Amino acid sequence: MHAFQYAAPETLDDALALLREHRDEARVLAGGQSLVPLLNYRLARPKLVVDIAGLPLHGVVLEDGRLRLGALVRHHQLEESDTVARHCPMLGEAARLIGNVRVRALGTLGGSLAHADPAAELPAAVTALDARLQVASASGRRTIAAREFFAGPLTTVLAPDEIVTEVEVDGTPAHGWAVEQFARRAGDFGLVTVVALVSVDRRGRVEDARLALGGVADRPVRAAGAEDALRGEEPTAERLARAAEIARERLDPPSDAFASGAYRRLLAGVLCRRALTRAVARALQSKGASTAPSDASPMIAPAKPALERKPPRDAMIARMVLNGRQREVEVRPNQTLLEMLRDTLGIFDVKQGCDEGVCGACTVLLDGRPVSSCLVLAPAVRGRAVVTLRGLERDGGLHALQEAFVRHGAVQCGFCTPGMLLTALAFLERERSPDREALRTALEGNLCRCTGYAKILDALEAYARGERGVG
Ligand SMILES: Cc1cc2nc3c(=O)[nH]c(=O)nc-3n(C[C@H](O)[C@H](O)[C@H](O)COP(=O)(O)OP(=O)(O)OC[C@H]3O[C@@H](n4cnc5c(N)ncnc54)[C@H](O)[C@@H]3O)c2cc1C
Ligand code: FES
Ligand code: FES
Repeated sequence: MHAFQYAAPETLDDALALLREHRDEARVLAGGQSLVPLLNYRLARPKLVVDIAGLPLHGVVLEDGRLRLGALVRHHQLEESDTVARHCPMLGEAARLIGNVRVRALGTLGGSLAHADPAAELPAAVTALDARLQVASASGRRTIAAREFFAGPLTTVLAPDEIVTEVEVDGTPAHGWAVEQFARRAGDFGLVTVVALVSVDRRGRVEDARLALGGVADRPVRAAGAEDALRGEEPTAERLARAAEIARERLDPPSDAFASGAYRRLLAGVLCRRALTRAVARALQSKGASTAPSDASPMIAPAKPALERKPPRDAMIARMVLNGRQREVEVRPNQTLLEMLRDTLGIFDVKQGCDEGVCGACTVLLDGRPVSSCLVLAPAVRGRAVVTLRGLERDGGLHALQEAFVRHGAVQCGFCTPGMLLTALAFLERERSPDREALRTALEGNLCRCTGYAKILDALEAYARGERGVG
């Protein structure tokens, strides 16, 4: 990573002032799940990184039937929030498809929209929702409609000194919804993603139909012709198939290293039909069901700052709880958490693999959630709790999950096992009796390229059953 300065402003005004001063030379850092890979590969070379993760933009608030989502709402919050599930459940389904569990632990809504990957789920989701983005700069505030926000691949209409602060969507509790995607492997960006929202009237005819696609153009697109073809009509299987065909016919997706344009177009037709079918089934099912009462409360507390924040800095002391002990570590702005753990502290149970968040070898727990330490800047760990494999040690001995791995022959290599143990443990803390399929899904972001996952899943099942003892 090249050298840059790091600032963690405590207020939005301070952040905006820094952006006004440094403009093109500064980059905002939110979850880091797109920016840090770019920094790792020197594809982004800012002189200043402005870390906004500590700003109070984490709220999920329901107001007059509208959801106001702070730009720093993380992908996992969209998956887990009751308010989102009640008032805009499609967002949870879309977020669940993003990357792997570590990406979803840190990646943010505002970051995903600002990054504007044409294949990403949330840009397509907000396009379907006709969301409005609140944007701030030192010279004022403005609102941008989602349909006007994306300007091309990885390009938006944001000026260099602007920050997305909030995303506002109308609640869609009466709409049926579906997010359909085809990806080459679990965790990959989808080749094509389709978001459908449909509501029906009392006679069962389509009242509102919205269809947005990702991965088929240089930005998310709406299939307006297909939507028009459905409005006011009975949503029969033939009519849904015809609408999907209309959507497909009007697309001209580009070819790339992963798929030809013709294949993407074909996929788009299939996924539109599937998405519409599922969305209509849900809309018909929910018809007549009363909308649940709102719970406007869950504002999510911002992360606690525990780092000297006088921006910008070249080197600083980061205070954290590392494997249960308070530590103060001198860190450089351009150092990842992985580098800090291995190179500064000599904690080699954290492994370095891909450096882009894919393999899971560098997994650590950050405040109890698995993250890729290769994609976290060391100064951003401010006041948080980090656990590496050695933090699982109990009274000088192995953790029961490690014992289960040994018993079931699941310690296949020293490279992947630490990350697998930490990911699995975090999952099993929340899910006490998962089935094998749920365990498989939980581990899908931790890659094994030698033998496979059978013994690992055996060990996890045994641990979940409470099996103990060495043998
Ligand atoms: C292995 C892997 C797999 C992934 N798979 C997927 C996937 O399948 N689908 C998907 O959608 N994404 C995927 N991602 C990307 C992920 O969703 C990112 O979290 C997201 O794109 C960026 O969010 P962030 O908060 O991490 O932003 P950051 O990485 O912090 O920032 C990304 C960009 O947005 C800018 N930015 C961030 N926040 C703001 C803001 N509030 N206002 C203005 N500018 C801002 C930054 O300056 C930067 O240019 C994947 C990432 C990885 C590492
Ligand atoms: S996920 Fe960090 S090294 Fe592969
Ligand atoms: S467990 Fe490491 S490659 Fe299979």
